[in-house]
Amino acid sequence: MSVPAARGRMPGAARAPMTAFLRRLLAALLLLAPVAATAQQPALSGPPHLAWRTGAEARAIERRIDALLARMTLAEKIGQLNLWGRGDEFRMEWLTEGRTGAVMNFTEPADIRRVQQAAARSRLGIPPIIGLDAVNGFATYFPQPLGQAATFNPRLVELASYWSAREARAAGVNWTFAPMIDMTRDARWGRVMEGAGEDTHLATVLAGARVAGYHRGGLATSAKHFIGYGEAEGGRDYNSVWIPVSKLWDHHMPPFRAAVDAGAFTVMTSLSAMNGIASTADRSLVTDVLKGRFRFRGFVVSDFESVGELMAHGMARDGADAARRAILAGVDMDMMSGLYDKHLADLVRTGAVPQTRIDDAVRRVLRVKMHMGLFEEAPYEPATAAAQMATPQARADSLAVAREAVVLLRNEGAVLPVKPEVGSIAVVGGLATHQEDWQYSDNVGLPRVRPPKLTDELARLLGDRVRVTSAPGLATRCSLAAGDTAGAVATAAAADLVVVMLGEDCEQIGEGTSRAHLDLPAPQQALLDALIGTGKPVVVIMHTSRPFVLTRFADRVAAILQAFHLGTEGRTALAEVITGRINPSGKLPMTFPRATGQAPIYYDRLPTGRPRIKDFRYETGYLDEKLEPLFPFGFGLSYARFAFDRLALDSATVPLTGAVAGSVRVSNTAGPAGREVVQVYVRQKVGARSRPLRQLRHFEKVEVAAGGEVTVRFAIPVRSLGYHDDQARYRVEPGEYEIYVGNDSNATLSATVTVR
Ligand code: BGC
Repeated sequence: MSVPAARGRMPGAARAPMTAFLRRLLAALLLLAPVAATAQQPALSGPPHLAWRTGAEARAIERRIDALLARMTLAEKIGQLNLWGRGDEFRMEWLTEGRTGAVMNFTEPADIRRVQQAAARSRLGIPPIIGLDAVNGFATYFPQPLGQAATFNPRLVELASYWSAREARAAGVNWTFAPMIDMTRDARWGRVMEGAGEDTHLATVLAGARVAGYHRGGLATSAKHFIGYGEAEGGRDYNSVWIPVSKLWDHHMPPFRAAVDAGAFTVMTSLSAMNGIASTADRSLVTDVLKGRFRFRGFVVSDFESVGELMAHGMARDGADAARRAILAGVDMDMMSGLYDKHLADLVRTGAVPQTRIDDAVRRVLRVKMHMGLFEEAPYEPATAAAQMATPQARADSLAVAREAVVLLRNEGAVLPVKPEVGSIAVVGGLATHQEDWQYSDNVGLPRVRPPKLTDELARLLGDRVRVTSAPGLATRCSLAAGDTAGAVATAAAADLVVVMLGEDCEQIGEGTSRAHLDLPAPQQALLDALIGTGKPVVVIMHTSRPFVLTRFADRVAAILQAFHLGTEGRTALAEVITGRINPSGKLPMTFPRATGQAPIYYDRLPTGRPRIKDFRYETGYLDEKLEPLFPFGFGLSYARFAFDRLALDSATVPLTGAVAGSVRVSNTAGPAGREVVQVYVRQKVGARSRPLRQLRHFEKVEVAAGGEVTVRFAIPVRSLGYHDDQARYRVEPGEYEIYVGNDSNATLSATVTVR
């Protein structure tokens, strides 16, 4: 999330600046690779496609770093390790004084230009990295990452990241604190919307796609939060995390591994403590695993003030101790705590922190800057920014992603798409009748995109044939207080069909928004009950940033559409789905619980010694609720009906080095052309450990014409069917594996393969 300017912090008094003449002279004499500083550079013609350089180029960069390091004072080195944010206290002079390696939360092009100019005036002219949480857009918004995951379409996810990067880059930003690739199984945690949901395979594929998209759009990535943040106990943000080694490696590590393999330039630690160690002080994970085992060459940045928070964690006596622990753990850059700035020099002088550790950290920062090409880059030209915001292509692509992110959860009597006999629709709920999401006003100083209202989009698509009326029903767009319920009921009663948009918005999304109750807030439930009371068919749009509990109304409404904040074009996508211009194809990236008490709930659980078979007391389950969720992972309806058959494996036995290969037929047996997600799950029947009931190992979205069929082939490397033990050793066991294929995690079509 973008952080308000007020969160900036004062890192102490600025040092006396040297004269401009001396600075320029020294820069000219000393800098091996000077910053390109001419004002007459051509405008940005498109973002640079970022990637790690290889071979001779990479070796030359290391030599260039050696030479630059040899010329840096200790203060200049430590300066590269400080990340400051826009705010009342931050001073541009700190860039000129060589005291700042990176800045964050600058979004106004003219400001960014000033940042670059200030750094260019420093003795060595080392360019700054300019960071921002461009989570799902900058000027044009895309569905939240959880909504992107619901597309089950890596190409679209790459596209969303590409545009988020491209627009931010056009504003002068060059680094993003994204993708968040924390695994999330607990809907109570507000940040589930920033990730790809509960499934390791889906999240791993999408982690690679997101890194690739950001890099193509010109932003260096920061894979975060290393590691385990998504398992905050009880869903309480920042809370402690307990993860056994085998689960850490099987479930949480793969997306990070994929992000590093995809070339993530930086990795961010977490605000939380895992297994009793705050991640910003976790040497074995940051240094041994990430930099050692994963061979990560970029730099590690702390989370917001997480160096300072080591004191609150009870892992540091004071600021100096916190800085010492973090830098020794391998955290190269300090985001916003100011403690590296304040204490590292003394810590080096007293020998508490070896100079070699500082040099390694600085080398990593410079390496990223050089591989990004920052040293050769033309100065940023703010005048080019506005024209690159919210272009028709960006908006068209945003619409393309939003269309596939809509998940149809219920459609009784095929109430959707709207039937020809429907003459009037009542649109209810502040979220549908109000124009703007809070997020769109974030990036000040740039033309704002004003997303259309759902009411207007429905009216536009339905034309004169259908009368579209509306009533907010709730007091504000944020939908937390009752409004004119009677008015909404009267509007609904006068229409043939009711579309009500409920959920969360405003300050209810993202960081610091844990929920103890996942049901609709009381005023929304009361409004919905009143609407249902009219006897009119009710279509509910759940506009949320996490799974909600829909149990109280699911079987009393005609249809439910799930929308994980779809972005600038979201209302249009929803109207297209409701009117049938688009056949929905989104699938749930997280299990939807029947009750909050089921959280965390996920499909790839272990079998237990007492599975629910006879449905009696001494089997796993609840006294007061079913064991099963309301909607399973991978679930989502279509206006078409798809059937799966002819599952065939190429071979009933495969070697450890081979692949489980086969095919399945998907037929569109009724309804319009549509897209279906073929999901292949695998269960190891018997192992040295208890193995999950099933795990997604392959998915593919395919287009199937009305009445048509498609045969989908899959090949799952046997190597991917293993697991880690408690020493983090990976193994794949021979034996029988069951394959399940279908369109959600309850898929029943199955076959067995033996791994030899
Ligand atoms: C969040 C990070 C984010 C940072 C900067 C922190 O509070 O945990 O994910 O990148 O703020 O906005």
